[in-house]
Formats: sequence, C-alpha cells, structure tokens
Amino acid sequence: MGKDSLSITDNRTGKVYEIPIVDGTIRAIDLRAIKAGKDDFGLLTYDPALLNTATARSAITYLDGDAGILRYRGYPIEQLAAHSTFMETAYLLIFGQLPNKIQLEQWAFDINHHTLLHTNAQRLIESFRHSAHPMSVFIGAISALGSLYPDSRHTHDPENRLLQAKRIIGKVATVGAFTYRINQGWPLNLPDDELDYIGNYLRMMFRMNEHHYYPDPILVKALNVLFILHADHEQNCSTSTMRVIGSSQADPYSSLAGAAAALYGPLHGGANEAVLTMLEQIGATGRVPAFIDGVKRGEAKLMGFGHRVYKNFDPRGQIIKKMAHEVFAFTGASPLLDIALKLEEIALHDEYFISRKLYPNVDFYSGLIYQAMKLPTNIFTVMFAIPRSVGWVAQWMEMMEDEDLKIVRPRQIYTGEEEREYTMIEERK
Ligand code: SDX
Repeated sequence: MGKDSLSITDNRTGKVYEIPIVDGTIRAIDLRAIKAGKDDFGLLTYDPALLNTATARSAITYLDGDAGILRYRGYPIEQLAAHSTFMETAYLLIFGQLPNKIQLEQWAFDINHHTLLHTNAQRLIESFRHSAHPMSVFIGAISALGSLYPDSRHTHDPENRLLQAKRIIGKVATVGAFTYRINQGWPLNLPDDELDYIGNYLRMMFRMNEHHYYPDPILVKALNVLFILHADHEQNCSTSTMRVIGSSQADPYSSLAGAAAALYGPLHGGANEAVLTMLEQIGATGRVPAFIDGVKRGEAKLMGFGHRVYKNFDPRGQIIKKMAHEVFAFTGASPLLDIALKLEEIALHDEYFISRKLYPNVDFYSGLIYQAMKLPTNIFTVMFAIPRSVGWVAQWMEMMEDEDLKIVRPRQIYTGEEEREYTMIEERK
C-alpha cells in the first residue's frame, strides 16, 4: 500500500503537488497551493450541493448507504427501535452513552421539567390563522423562544448549551402539539408530567374532554419507535443548516428554526406529507401503472422514494413498514395502504427505479401511520421535526466543541459582468 497522499500534476505549469489523504479525504484548502501564476488565487473545489464534500467530523451517527446501515453512537437502529425509548435514545445522542437507570430517570425528569411554554410563545401560536401550515407555526414559535431565553446566546458555555438542549427537547413536543390543536380549532392541552414524554405528547395532541386521557400503549410504542427512527441522520440538509447557522454563534433557537425551515421542504422532511398527497392524487390501485409511467416521463417524482445516501433500502423504512401492520391492527389500516403497496411492488421491479437505485425511504410509510392515527397530512412534518430536534441540538453541541469550528463562508465561481462604468439614467436606452 503506497503513501496516504495524492501527487497532483498541474499540466498548466508542470508542477507536482503532494496532497495528504486523511480519513479518506483531502483538505480542500490544500488545493489553494495549486496556482497557474503568481496572481492566481489558487484552486477551489466546486460542489454546489456538497455531493462529495465532508463538512464535519462527527461521532453521533454512522450511515452506510450501500449496505443500508444506520447506527446512533454505534448502536444499530434496529436494536434501538426494538429495545429503547425515545427519551433513552435522546440521552444517547446527546451524551454518547446509554444511560443507567438513575441517569435516565434524571434525564426524563429534566426534560419533563421543560415542557411548559411561556404564555408569550403560547399566545404567538394562538395568533396564527387557523389555516396556517403547522410547520410555519412551528418555525415561528421556535424562533420566538430565543427571545424568551436571551441567556441562550452564551453559546460558548457548555452548561448553558445543555440547559438550552433540555429546554428545546422538552418544548418542541408542546409547540408541535399546540400547532396541531390550533390548526384543528381545539383548546390547548397543557403538558402534564404525570405521563412520560411520548404519553404527554399524545395527551396534548388528542385529549378532548375526557376527565383522564391515557394513550393506548400501542400508540405509545409506535411513536417511541417513529421518534427514535427520526431522531438523527448525520449531515442531512436540515442538520447542515443547523450547523451553518450555529457556526455564526447564533442562539440554538434561531439555528433550530432555520433547520426546521430546511426540513419543511418536500424533498426533505416535507416528503411524508407529499407522499400522502401523491397517494390521494393517484386515488386507486388501478391508476398506479399510469402514475408510474408519468414519473418515468419526468412528469412527477415518486415521493418517499430515493435518497442521497441510501442506494439500497432505507433501514428506517423497513422498520416502519413492519410496525405499520401492528398500528393498523389497532387503528384500522389507512385507505391508501393498498396504493402504497402497489407503488412499491411496481417500482421495486421496474428498471427505471432499479437503475437509479430508488428505494422507499423513511417517509414512504411514516405518513400512512400518522394518517391511521387520524392526523391531518399537514402535521406530518411537525411529527418529523419534534424528534429531529434532538439530532439538531446534538450536532450543534458537537460542533461547538469542534476545534475546526469557524463561521461557514463558502467561495463562489463568479459568472457576472466584468467591471463597467455607471451611466446616468438619461444616457440609458
Ligand atoms: C429525507 O439526507 C437525509 O438523510 C434526509 C433524510 C433524513 O433523515 O434527514 O433521510 C430524510 O429527506 C428523505 C428523502 C425524502 N424525500 C423524498 O422522498 C422526495 C423524493 N425523493 C427525491 O426528491 C430524491 O430522491 C432525493 C431528494 C431524496 C435525493 O435526490 P438526489 O440524491 O439529489 O438524487 P437526484 O435528484 O440526483 O436523482 C438521481 C436520479 C434523477 O434521474 P436522472 O436525472 O438521472 O434521469 O433519480 C431520479 C432523478 O430524477 N429520482 C427520482 C426520484 N428521486 C430521484 N425519480 C423519481 N422519483 C423520485 N423520488
């Protein structure tokens, strides 16, 4: 095995440059030494969607897209989904180790202690039009929390970062539930720490006028698994956004609002809502082949399929698909399930999708479960943002400790006009 380096010959000058290879990467800044002349700025890399660029060193989540592997802090997602709870997994993502009994009890107490919202934030949520998309409300409310916790701007203080992380994890469930209740025109259910995190969330979402609302254990288990599966996913679009905004030393609420805004897009976390819209538009299994033909003509995307990293099955989608049947036994199956199964069956055997390595991702089945839980499609992405807030704060906390931390400021390739003289308006044609 030769040296861990590249020998690059610049054919413009005949010079040879030795670029070290570290952790399977070269440092882009090393390319700046490659110049065609003394006034040359030096080489840049051009990677507009960061398709082939590592932007962080992280110990939180490991993905192998070809093998369909996902691990949080080394633990396979399948084992966490089978044995853990969302609260325990949140601890693991933040601290790097599974908690012991005392640590988990303290953690759950701390988070439950931060579920209440300031009345200012509650009134802001109530001020939105009832028809406002819940993600717009979620983003607005999270951003506003930064104004209620001005101490959160002390981003260099690790104790302060942990306090804000606990506040965020506690409050995003309340914000999420409130966006749903407002959208439905129902009174708010305040958090109640008699129940655990997931039970409390379900009670805030679904309690109507029952004297005591206790969520069904099947729903509690299903939501624990769904929240575990959605908690983190290394440097995806929204997590990268959290890191970019956080790199300017913005408070974590402002960074998280930006991350949630990125998640809202239909190519990212908004896909679970877009899947249901697609299934409703197809309307019947008999119309699936015609829809697939339209996708192959480039007229539509098969939402819930494809992934930048997974070029095999998304392990989360497989777990959700298996779990869906347990939930449907309790809630009754979604009327769109058969259409989804037909789409999957055709797509997995069609060369167009096979050649492009398009497989069902995490969003293909999650929406069907949420619909079976009688949730409106416009709340689905909020159901993604709540658990992903754990990943966003974990990645932000890790970044703030990174010795390579600098404000993110990429370069560009200028394609505009050369210098030209200003002309007075009278002289213009
Ligand atoms: C999430 O990054 C993460 O980890 C994200 C996430 C997380 O946990 O954070 O996993 C969550 O966002 C999952 C993805 C949810 N999005 C969707 O389901 C929307 C539909 N999927 C596509 O938009 C797409 O697959 C992406 C955005 C997910 C990935 O797009 P890429 O990697 O940029 O791939 P591409 O657009 O370059 O596609 C390659 C080819 C193209 O065809 P050609 O131009 O080569 O002919 O595949 C085609 C695309 O047109 N293609 C699709 C398709 N996805 C890609 N064709 C039809 N339907 C699709 N869904």
